[in-house]
Amino acid sequence: MDGHMGMKKISSHCSISEMDDFDLSRLLDKPRLNIERQRSFDERSLSELSIGLARAGLDSYDTYSPGAGGRSGFNTPASSTRNSFEPHPMVADAWESLRKSLVYFRGQPVGTIAAVDHQSEEVLNYDQVFVRDFVPSALAFLMNGEPDIVKNFLLKTLHLQGWEKRVDRFKLGEGVMPASFKVLHDPIRKTDTLIADFGESAIGRVAPVDSGFWWIILLRAYTKSTGDLSLAESSSCQKGMKLILTLCLSEGFDTFPTLLCADGCCMIDRRMGIYGYPIEIQALFFMALRCALSMLKQDDAEGKECVERIVKRLHALSYHMRNYFWLDFQQLNDIYRYKTEEYSHTAVNKFNVIPDSIPEWVFDFMPTRGGYFIGNVSPARMDFRWFALGNCVAILSSLSTPEQSMAIMDLIEARWDELVGEMPLKISYPAIESHEWRIVTGCDPKNTRWSYHNGGSWPVLLWLVTAACIKTGRPQIARRAIELAESRLLKDGWPEYYDGKLGRYIGKQARKYQTWSIAGYLVAKMMLEDPSHLGMISLEEDKQMKPVIKRSSSWNC
Ligand code: GLC
Repeated sequence: MDGHMGMKKISSHCSISEMDDFDLSRLLDKPRLNIERQRSFDERSLSELSIGLARAGLDSYDTYSPGAGGRSGFNTPASSTRNSFEPHPMVADAWESLRKSLVYFRGQPVGTIAAVDHQSEEVLNYDQVFVRDFVPSALAFLMNGEPDIVKNFLLKTLHLQGWEKRVDRFKLGEGVMPASFKVLHDPIRKTDTLIADFGESAIGRVAPVDSGFWWIILLRAYTKSTGDLSLAESSSCQKGMKLILTLCLSEGFDTFPTLLCADGCCMIDRRMGIYGYPIEIQALFFMALRCALSMLKQDDAEGKECVERIVKRLHALSYHMRNYFWLDFQQLNDIYRYKTEEYSHTAVNKFNVIPDSIPEWVFDFMPTRGGYFIGNVSPARMDFRWFALGNCVAILSSLSTPEQSMAIMDLIEARWDELVGEMPLKISYPAIESHEWRIVTGCDPKNTRWSYHNGGSWPVLLWLVTAACIKTGRPQIARRAIELAESRLLKDGWPEYYDGKLGRYIGKQARKYQTWSIAGYLVAKMMLEDPSHLGMISLEEDKQMKPVIKRSSSWNC
């Protein structure tokens, strides 16, 4: 049965393989890099793989019993029983813990709680279902052939999006998705009610800009994995997507195509000096735009207009990011020699970045081969810090050119001790300390140097780096990272994060049994075992695809 499960997943994956990517490369400007273009492993192997596997899938499709699709009743993961080799003992433990984190609403599983830490006295909001935290859980369930919970989650959060959202007397935009929600069970009345947080209870009162993007990305992952187009095509999902996009595509005073954000609006949800145009949000924005483009129907004027706006924005956004956020040895040297006070269209130093503001560490950190998207770019300000999530999502969404993706992986290899150390993966590098820490974090005791968001190591990021490794044809890097995680994660009780320059210490205030640490590990393992899963969460820069203008409004190809 498990064998059939695997086949079924792959065959459905292939049947919609044409739905998503159009030839973005035709619409987007070519990068300025002059490294010779190499075809990535993923471009080769995934397309070749999918042809081979599609046949295998079709052959076995008839014998597949749909009843086995919802595996909720089974405790054995498909991924660990399918293969001849013994699964790592941690896998079974991880599945058990992941299932313990399930949250039910009126008998249906709708998400996973952020942490099931019975030892921690302070619950804060770790007893909620966070949208961003649920993503790796959702991918694990999809990869294991259990899509129902993901569908329930997508519908529940869509329903929450419809709520009126206020912070004090101020009404938030219609499209805002919650950061988290909670199910309240009343055992006497036997009722379940939902409460949601759109930022009005969150520390700092910031709305989560990433939630809507993750929601769109997950909707595509669900569609890709199940082949069920009906959910994304439903009028409620179409409307939900448009509402999210309306928030970010509206015109205003902006002179940049990037999205202007407050500190704390994403995974880094406290003040960490990422206000402005944080890389995490820009990469997720790009990916969500591309995912939406693959799912939006164009059967009316509104749909057509929305698609047109997305295409224009993608065009401008990729140009801006690939040029101004990209840093490699050459670029660093150019900035180092910048003239300032240039005026008019001929300016080279467009944002008037003062070379003296380049921090010392970056000169040593930058390898001769390699590069990355820096943390932030705005007038006279470049935040040179490395942020893992944004760079991995840039690879997965093909925001980075194939050359840039390779360079990001080169950097991770060249700076392994700094970025991976003893526990994958540093959320940001380097940490900020002393006076700078005071000014930037507002003296945040949770974000002291090499802790939490300030240079802490987050096991959840393992799934993202693994996906990026597979896409760039470097699975051996992922293997090394997974081995490091396996040497500690279970023994340490699946902590939320690790502290220290090398990530050797369990985080000062880290929760144990943090669900996304558990799910992130499972997703990394399953992807490495079966790289065809990557298609759920990765977008190709594929020249063979039809341009958007010629795309039909339906996905039936
Ligand atoms: C912390 C993290 C945030 C996460 C939440 C729940 O606040 O900073 O990214 O979503 O915990 O795990």
